[in-house]
Amino acid sequence: MADQVDTSQIDVDALTQAQAEAELARLAERLGTANTAYHAEDAPVMPDAEYDALKRRNAAIEARFTDLKRADSPTEQVGAAPASGFGKVTHAVSMLSLANAFTDEDVREFDTSVRKYLGLGADDPLAYTAEPKIDGLSLSLRYEGGHLVQAATRGDGSVGENVTANARTIEDIPEEIAGAPEVLEVRGEVYMSHADFAALNTRQEERGGKTFANPRNAAAGSLRQLDPEITRARPLKFFAYAWGDVSAPLADTQAGAIQRLADFGFSVNPLTRRCDGPDEMTAHYAKIESQRATLGYDIDGVVYKVDDLALQKRLGFRSTTPRWATAHKFPAELAWTRLESIDIQVGRTGALSPVARLTPVTVGGVVVSNATLHNEDYIQGRDSKGQQIRDGKDIRVGDWVQVYRAGDVIPKIADVDLSKRPDDATAFEFPHSCPECGSDAVREPGDAVRRCTGGLICPAQAVEKLKHLVSRAAFDIDGLGAKQVEQFYADGWIAEPADIFTLQDRYGSGVQQLKNREGWGDKSAKALFAAIEDKRSIPLARLIFGLGIRHVGEAASGLIARHYGSWDALSTAMEEARDCEGPAWDDLVGIDGMGSVMAGSLVGTFAQPAERASIDRLVDQLTVQEAVQADTSTSPVAGKTVVFTGTLEKMTRAEAKARAERLGAKVSGSVSAKTDLLVAGPGAGSKAKKAAELGIETLDEDGWLALIGTA
Ligand code: IVH
Repeated sequence: MADQVDTSQIDVDALTQAQAEAELARLAERLGTANTAYHAEDAPVMPDAEYDALKRRNAAIEARFTDLKRADSPTEQVGAAPASGFGKVTHAVSMLSLANAFTDEDVREFDTSVRKYLGLGADDPLAYTAEPKIDGLSLSLRYEGGHLVQAATRGDGSVGENVTANARTIEDIPEEIAGAPEVLEVRGEVYMSHADFAALNTRQEERGGKTFANPRNAAAGSLRQLDPEITRARPLKFFAYAWGDVSAPLADTQAGAIQRLADFGFSVNPLTRRCDGPDEMTAHYAKIESQRATLGYDIDGVVYKVDDLALQKRLGFRSTTPRWATAHKFPAELAWTRLESIDIQVGRTGALSPVARLTPVTVGGVVVSNATLHNEDYIQGRDSKGQQIRDGKDIRVGDWVQVYRAGDVIPKIADVDLSKRPDDATAFEFPHSCPECGSDAVREPGDAVRRCTGGLICPAQAVEKLKHLVSRAAFDIDGLGAKQVEQFYADGWIAEPADIFTLQDRYGSGVQQLKNREGWGDKSAKALFAAIEDKRSIPLARLIFGLGIRHVGEAASGLIARHYGSWDALSTAMEEARDCEGPAWDDLVGIDGMGSVMAGSLVGTFAQPAERASIDRLVDQLTVQEAVQADTSTSPVAGKTVVFTGTLEKMTRAEAKARAERLGAKVSGSVSAKTDLLVAGPGAGSKAKKAAELGIETLDEDGWLALIGTA
């Protein structure tokens, strides 16, 4: 837990390499949790503005420290896996998310980046559409021969939930449409109006049913009912704003396509406008913002899309967002409240994190009672460079503090009102020993975070490690969640990962012991032991992730697993790379997506005798499934290292690079013996010469396009 808040206050520009890495890890974890809560459970754990702020900060750090980008980067994730209970639908065309802009300046940058990618000059005409960003949940409606055949939620972007029966109950969604292409997926937002939301909550209250926190949750909860008759009784609405799979193009422009959707009988948003550049876009944003309070439904920003669909196609997508669109979000909010206490949490990797406990306060409709205090410097009114923040005002228990829900990272304490400081308030003393195990807590030079040195003897670290091990992306043991791990740890049943797998044996028949505990019966005890047995055979990637090694996230674990294939190969390599040099080390840091910090953390963990012994005890209990190499047979350039040089005439360098990477190629800036292919346009110089010397295959732009086809 504690790793969440360590570095979060430091400005992106001020982060050291190590801090940036810690911060990216923290952000990945926070955003992952928030995603699941929002998309899979309809129970958001943070306001949207905070989520956006975290994502924005993550992107800014990744932009500054490009080689620290995590393999499980939140930039690469959309939504969360579908909830159970509904059938699954694999989207023919992925349902993506949108990149965000927060200021007019960001909007101009968006325009600049689009122009740059397309190779357009600043004065070349380039039109966009601007429309409200509806705060509901997205839905994809598939029509075949004009009949509605399927409706699916976004899910994780590639697989959603089949909610066809429910969608059919929504009045705005036509069953039949005339004049449409044979196959047409209409995409848009299901939402609930303010009036309908208030009436629904009143009805629910009267019946003693569940009330909803906001219209978005109400819409999501209503659409995702297993009984469509419940959905029918809920007043849901739908705005169409996009499309997925289509057998014939709808139009040449975004505006034209939206008009076609309107012609088919869909509601489209009346505030959609065509704009001739950033000035008109931000003017329309201001207009929409001024009408926000009286629209009668929630919107959380304005979406801009490149109008010309041929250009949209050229711009294409990053991993989870289109290059041709962005969401200009409305700004966040502030509130004042009392700081009641400061708690120190200790995380899986020993970081001590101060957390502010606040008198609960509503900030923009969301109740906030905890905020991060980041680290000891932050509490004292300094940043990591020793510069003053908040004019040097420190934060004391009893202070009247300002809570901020957007910007860098939130909720955070933005300010202190010294005029309201109680007379007896004293400066906060940050502990120099771990509050959980008493070990020294030390701060390495250059690190903003103080860490417990207790390692495996620190109960907080041990428990957090165990919780991580059983978590969904790791061993995912049914019936063994954070709560049970805490209980078992407290009672001495489980002290380290291996103990989970010896639990049943150590207690004779573990079932007999367990079923006598509060909250457990014969059935649940048997189920738990069966679930543990079930995970005794574990894929290598899940094992690696489950070890909870600092900086090694879920996607990175996958990369490592695919690279080494087996546990034996991995542990041998870790031995050989332990000095962070030599061929095994070079091989490790050469894994695409691996940074030297991540590699150092991995090797360091294996080199630490107590850690290593604990890992070995765990692995002794397991059958580790070998990882399969990724299938790269479909792309002609998958796995190849490609270099572009000279002038490309049919696309910009960025566009060429993105397309090559999409096909699994690695694009490098310089020619070496590792280069497989050089694509040389007119004006190619020394790189072409070097490639010729090395006997590297060279193609011109047309040859390259012929090789990769229209992919
Ligand atoms: S366009 C390829 N337009 O915002 C992206 N999305 O943050 C297509 N949303 O998943 C999305 N209003 O659920 C688009 N006018 C609008 C929107 C909109 C709301 C939602 C949508 C999307 C999310 C992205």
